[in-house]
Amino acid sequence: MAEVVLDKVTKVFTTFKKREKVNVTAVNHLKLDIRDGEFLVLLGPSGCGKTTTLRIIAGLEIPTEGKVYIGNRDVTKYPAKERGIAMVFQDYALYPHMNVYENMSFGLKNLKFPKEEIKRRVETAARILDIEELFDRKPKGLSGGQRQRVALGRAIVRQPQVYLFDEPLSNLDARLRIQMRAELKELHMNLKTTSIYVTHDQIEAMTLGNRIVILELGTIQQIGTPEEIYNKPSNLFVANFIGTPPMNFFTCGVSRDDDLKFVFENGKKISVPNTLKNKLQDFMNKRITLGIRPENISLEKGKNSVEASVTSSEFLGINVLIHFKVGEERGTIYMNSEKATSIGAGSKIPLLFDPDKIHVFDPETGKNIGLIK
Ligand SMILES: Nc1ncnc2c1ncn2[C@@H]1O[C@H](COP(=O)(O)OP(=O)(O)O)[C@@H](O)[C@H]1O
Ligand SMILES: [Mg+2]
Repeated sequence: MAEVVLDKVTKVFTTFKKREKVNVTAVNHLKLDIRDGEFLVLLGPSGCGKTTTLRIIAGLEIPTEGKVYIGNRDVTKYPAKERGIAMVFQDYALYPHMNVYENMSFGLKNLKFPKEEIKRRVETAARILDIEELFDRKPKGLSGGQRQRVALGRAIVRQPQVYLFDEPLSNLDARLRIQMRAELKELHMNLKTTSIYVTHDQIEAMTLGNRIVILELGTIQQIGTPEEIYNKPSNLFVANFIGTPPMNFFTCGVSRDDDLKFVFENGKKISVPNTLKNKLQDFMNKRITLGIRPENISLEKGKNSVEASVTSSEFLGINVLIHFKVGEERGTIYMNSEKATSIGAGSKIPLLFDPDKIHVFDPETGKNIGLIK
């Protein structure tokens, strides 16, 4: 077990485009402290630098700048095999000509472990993962879920100080993914080994991570617990990336009549919640982006409600997802199916925003104005 520290890690790849040299900054001054025993998730869209970060920790990629520490050792120049890590990939990377037992024991055999110790470790891992019956099978005779278990087993037998996972569940079907997600969580609760897990799937990130790091263009956007990331998004990128359906956004002006008001594009004014009044002083007569999650809007008429017109609705079972427009801006809200029977395209509905759940963002910097100190 060990903590992992990334100290201002940068990785620039040089490639060629039409014979012109192009520099791509895959990872940009990443500073990250991963605690001993923590399950940390790196979350972000494709191309944001997740795999590169993991490969730098693994020693498969040398950073252009910065240092990597594992368990207080500067391992920046160490080869992968001397870092005490084990990596699990999306495509499993099993050896096709070896059976399950051989696949699981191969790494230890290479490290010249005694046969008895190898047998003990492989059997223990197989018991944890419930794959003891599969020892004699080759990978092509296994289902996707079984292959992923073998890949996990191969990592477990190494008894690494740190596990590195690169989208290990993406090749599984939806049902199996949920099951393996729960198993990974259980495995971590039992082994308590520091784990760094890369995914573009926010549900996986929210359910597995003790903390989540949101990356965009190689830069950290926010680090926090799943609750912090969801309830206090640091900027528009995070607010938009986390949550399905996503947060609703409206462009508003800020003006003062008798009191401070948000002014929607259609002219409707609603009160600014007390908690935000001070923070909005600098935005008087400027535009802000108001954000509110679908579950924080109710269909009630009041002096602070905003009129919307329904564009379509989707039946989901207990709930209906209602798509609406306020002026030209689109949004969504959930409604109990039984209450929504008379609401169809073209209906006018009043939207009342929970004042404690309104977020305001600076449209120029993207920053969450409510969190600026
Ligand atoms: N070996 C490489 N050579 C050149 N560019 C690369 C290389 N590996 C990654 N990149 C670029 O770096 C960026 C980050 O890639 P990656 O870390 O794979 O992102 P992610 O895993 O988040 O999808 C992308 O723009 C990608 O094209
Ligand atoms: Mg990747």
